[in-house]
Amino acid sequence: MPDAEIQDRGFIPPAPSPGERDLPPLRALLTSISRPLEGWPRAIYEQRVWRPPVPGLPVFIMDPDALGAIFGEKAAAFPQGALWRRMMRPVWGDGLVTSEGAAWRWQRRATAPAFRPAHMHALAPVMVRAGEAALERWTRQGRIDLAQECGRITLDVLLDAVLSGGEDFDREELRGLAERFVAQVLKTRLSYFFAPDAFHEGRMSPEAPEGARLRAGVDAMIRRRRAEPPRGDLVDLLLGARDPETGREMGDDILRDNLLGFIVAGHETTATALCWPVWLASIHEPTRRRLRAEVEAVAGDGAIRPEHVERLVFARQVVSESLRLYPVNHLLTRVCVETTEVGGMRVKAGERILAPVYALHRHRLWWREPDRFDPDRFAPDAEPPDRHVYMPFGAGPRICLGAAFAMTELTVLLATFVRGADFTPDPGHRVWPVAENSVVRPEGGLPMTVVRR
Ligand code: HEM
Repeated sequence: MPDAEIQDRGFIPPAPSPGERDLPPLRALLTSISRPLEGWPRAIYEQRVWRPPVPGLPVFIMDPDALGAIFGEKAAAFPQGALWRRMMRPVWGDGLVTSEGAAWRWQRRATAPAFRPAHMHALAPVMVRAGEAALERWTRQGRIDLAQECGRITLDVLLDAVLSGGEDFDREELRGLAERFVAQVLKTRLSYFFAPDAFHEGRMSPEAPEGARLRAGVDAMIRRRRAEPPRGDLVDLLLGARDPETGREMGDDILRDNLLGFIVAGHETTATALCWPVWLASIHEPTRRRLRAEVEAVAGDGAIRPEHVERLVFARQVVSESLRLYPVNHLLTRVCVETTEVGGMRVKAGERILAPVYALHRHRLWWREPDRFDPDRFAPDAEPPDRHVYMPFGAGPRICLGAAFAMTELTVLLATFVRGADFTPDPGHRVWPVAENSVVRPEGGLPMTVVRR
């Protein structure tokens, strides 16, 4: 197929982008709370910094140098803040996400080696298995909501990878527990903004039944795996995790907090990130054709294996471009705890900072034709975007620990699905991204029919 024929230069998928005129101030404020992507002013897509006209509100920063300092060199002056820790503590306990300073540093150093790309590629068979099972199920059902279904797959993959050896759980029970646990986390998260901690007693506290059952099961899994010969999987890597600088090992309690945290951090995020590129490929024929040609050239009609992952170059580009247009986290927040200068501007202690990832990824100064879908922006020979204008996984020392896990899973599953089936979205359904519970998801799901190829 000649490249000119399969490259379509003008595909702009549906999404809010800055209007000619901003909403009137009160409406903009209310919309920014209920449907943030639609309430943000044009300035966020065009300027380097934007301060809302009402004093005391957080400042939006879109300048890559300033963001580089906030997330990178000066990260110590810009922690995620007490509210973040309050919201995350019921899930993460004393694990990675809720720790700061030395307590965070050693855990990060200890766990990072387990999440290296090479180890993640080795998980490809777990991912392919979940993907193939889903394809079987979908083609039997015929019609599915892709957004919802992706949640089931990503949870299955995490449970296999992160709780390998959890034979004390019944599979269905485990899935149900984890789903309810994650749903509780998302539902109660908002109330942490205004309700005192006491209000949450017995809900998201470790004593809540789902949390308690999951913790007990993970504890049993850790005991079992410590007594068994190694299987060479992610759990073994984490069981052996130790700080390379001090040799300190992870105690079972911290290990359990982190394992549970990985499930919560990786489930909804990867699920949402997966449904967008599969849908994009379903409505954009040139992309679909190129993807199919690549998967067939790399893996033929057999299963995708670890050594194929690196060679699925275009699939990875599609995932990257999809994460640009529909980043899972539309916004990252930080609190300044020490008055300082970043990118030539002064930020005072106490100020809240917003990095509006969604607008940053469509920023008029940093991207050519920002709303256009063009996976070739991420081609190996293209100039890579600045790390601080493209941050689907955050940036700096606190960058997502599971990024390579997620990228491997997204690439492998996109390739598996596009090769294995035809997906036809319901023609009457309007696809539209909304930021809900801090995740950019398709409003009303992604209803479609699936036919095996
Ligand atoms: C597409 C899927 C995912 C997306 C978009 C995503 C996004 C992010 C982002 C933006 C952050 C940084 C938050 C901040 O700086 O405020 C983060 C942190 C984190 N993510 Fe992910 N994530 C994904 C999947 C995963 C998976 C699969 C895991 C684990 C298996 C994971 C584990 C973590 C952890 C542990 C942190 C905290 C790191 C630290 O504080 O040192 N994530 N993620």
